Amino acid sequence: MSLTTFDSLVNDWGRLQLSLVTAAGLAVVIHFWAGAFRSNKSRQEPPPLTKNVGLFQTIAEITGGRMRDFLIEQFQKVGGIYRLPFPSFAPMVVVVANTQDARAIYKDPAHTKPPVMYGAIDEFSSGPNIVTTRGVPGDSWYHRRKAINPAFAPKIVHRMNRVALEKAGKWIADTLAPLVGKDNMPPKPFNVGRETILLTIAVICKAAFDYDISDTEREEVRLSMQKGIEEFTIKTMINPLRRVGTWCLPDRREAYQAVAKLKTFAVKIMELYRKNPSPTPDTVIDVIMKNPNYKDDSERIPDIVMMLFAGHDTTGYTMAFALLELAKSPNEQQKLRDELINSKDEGASPPYLKAVLNETMRLHPTSPLTGIKELGSDFASKDGYLVPKGSIIFIAQIALARDAILFPDAFQFQPSRWLEGNVTEDAKQALFPFSLGKRNCVGQPLVNAQLNSVLPLLIRQFEFTVEDEGQIVTQGTTRLDNCYLKATKIAEWSWNESTFD
Ligand code: HEM
Repeated sequence: MSLTTFDSLVNDWGRLQLSLVTAAGLAVVIHFWAGAFRSNKSRQEPPPLTKNVGLFQTIAEITGGRMRDFLIEQFQKVGGIYRLPFPSFAPMVVVVANTQDARAIYKDPAHTKPPVMYGAIDEFSSGPNIVTTRGVPGDSWYHRRKAINPAFAPKIVHRMNRVALEKAGKWIADTLAPLVGKDNMPPKPFNVGRETILLTIAVICKAAFDYDISDTEREEVRLSMQKGIEEFTIKTMINPLRRVGTWCLPDRREAYQAVAKLKTFAVKIMELYRKNPSPTPDTVIDVIMKNPNYKDDSERIPDIVMMLFAGHDTTGYTMAFALLELAKSPNEQQKLRDELINSKDEGASPPYLKAVLNETMRLHPTSPLTGIKELGSDFASKDGYLVPKGSIIFIAQIALARDAILFPDAFQFQPSRWLEGNVTEDAKQALFPFSLGKRNCVGQPLVNAQLNSVLPLLIRQFEFTVEDEGQIVTQGTTRLDNCYLKATKIAEWSWNESTFD
């Protein structure tokens, strides 16, 4: 062996040793770094719920009707971000109740809707639909949403106002007038939640589907929705095993009858559209029927059913809560009435009306969780917590809207807090009852059209008082059960075609 070869062997051995030492060193560093990172990561997880609230209690609270109280309590005790106690093998489930994190999550286009939370609703609508579709690139949500957007464009709002006023006029004549107190006769109470839902179903059917629903059909749709919501958005969502026992579970069998009725109703709407020689352009049904991306009617039915599902109780109960709060506060009711009577521009939404609606949706957001999202990328919260990609996020508008720092006297109905000069930018940013980002509520213009026209119609003519406040129940959405109001006629007022020009 030559000297050079020997030298080079020694050098190679030296290099090898050096490499081994370096590699070992690196391994140690990586090990400790990774360990530190792991523990750091776990240290940075959002905090858990308050002590003694375990998985079963959480599920019971969220699904048993007390969801909004639970979210408010945990916000007060734990703060604006916390983890729900799901087992570590499941994705992390995090509740977000602070403006900055909520807005950052909404803004990230990578978020999707988790099938584990929304999948059961597809059974209700007879297939994938605009509300539950995941929203991953290339899936059908894109064509569904793109097609429906024009049906809620500003140029359609005038027609929506007219439809809402026509339907409300019929409701006043048929239902309210016989119960109203006049000529020394005391008023008789009416169930405000039930009535505002029936009215909203009539408004959606006409405004969105160009369909004048009969009273019998309306009641059937209301009951079918109620049955389906109970089963598919609550019971089956918590316990997917219910699917295998449909034959022996009466609730599930009845829910399936409800699904069949809603499907028949959707088919009827489509048949009527096809028979109509001059259908109204740019209604929801018009854009759905003209959308070439649906394979056939079986893909259209779920979107028709979902429009009713998403709009009827949210809008109906928002109107009911507005009437209840005004009935509880005669001064606020009179302030609104005075503003409406003195307003020069009858069709515009005057500031106090806007304030009343904002305050109603702050105190009673009918969707207390304005979004259930699956994170498409890791998320670093404003407080430095790390929420990994794939985690499920509940955005708790209800808790955020009760933040006493943003909203002094947060549990009181105080519309004037929304008037210019009183309202802070932070408060404005914290109110998003229709959600934000790509999956925000497509129906918001219809809601505004209904509330901004029907509430003035009622408040100008009737004085509302409370007979029984009823109960607030949150299972998915927030309901107002067994709440009875009374109406006394105080003035005549009617609208005309130019009112909303
Ligand atoms: C006060 C009444 C309403 C409220 C508070 C409300 C609230 C919301 C919220 C928070 C979302 C997002 C839900 C989520 O991400 O899971 C949403 C989505 C939606 N809403 Fe509404 N909504 C109302 C009325 C309506 C009406 C009247 C319609 C239609 C007639 C409607 C149709 C929809 C649809 C189709 C979506 C799904 C949009 C998408 O994923 O692209 N909503 N709504």
